[in-house]
Amino acid sequence: MIIKWKDDYSCYDLTIDQQHKKLIDMINQMSEIVELNDGCDRYDEIIELFEELKSYTVYHFNHEEELFDQNQYDSFNIKIQKLEHKSFINKVSAINLREVDEDQIGAVRKILDFLSVWLDHHILVTDRKFGAFLQENAK
Ligand SMILES: [Fe+2]
Repeated sequence: MIIKWKDDYSCYDLTIDQQHKKLIDMINQMSEIVELNDGCDRYDEIIELFEELKSYTVYHFNHEEELFDQNQYDSFNIKIQKLEHKSFINKVSAINLREVDEDQIGAVRKILDFLSVWLDHHILVTDRKFGAFLQENAK
C-alpha cells in the first residue's frame, strides 16, 4: 500500500471524500500489480488501470469545479485549483508509456511516487482549503 486514507484527508464533502478514496484505491491497485514482481508481463494491466485512473481523475476534477461554482467559492482560489487540475492532467498525459514497457517495475514505481505525493498534496492543501470554506459557509 503506497497511500492510505486518513481522517485528515476529510474535506467536509462526502462525494469528494469518496472520490479521493477511490483514487487512493486505484493507486494502491497499480502498486500491488507492480509489487507482485513475478516476472510476468503486466504491461496491459498497468496501462488499463492507468487509463482508468486518468479518466476518473478528470471526472473528479469536473465534480470539484462544479461545486466551486455552486458554492460561489472565490475566483482566486478557483483559478488556482483549476490551474492545478490542468497541470496534473498535462503531466500525466506526458508520461512516457514506452518507458513503462521497457522497465515496468522501475517506471511504474516512479509514476506511483509522483501520483501519491501529488494526491496527498491535492487533498491536504488545496481540497481541504475548499472543505474549510464549505464548512464555514454551512454554518
Ligand atoms: Fe480532489
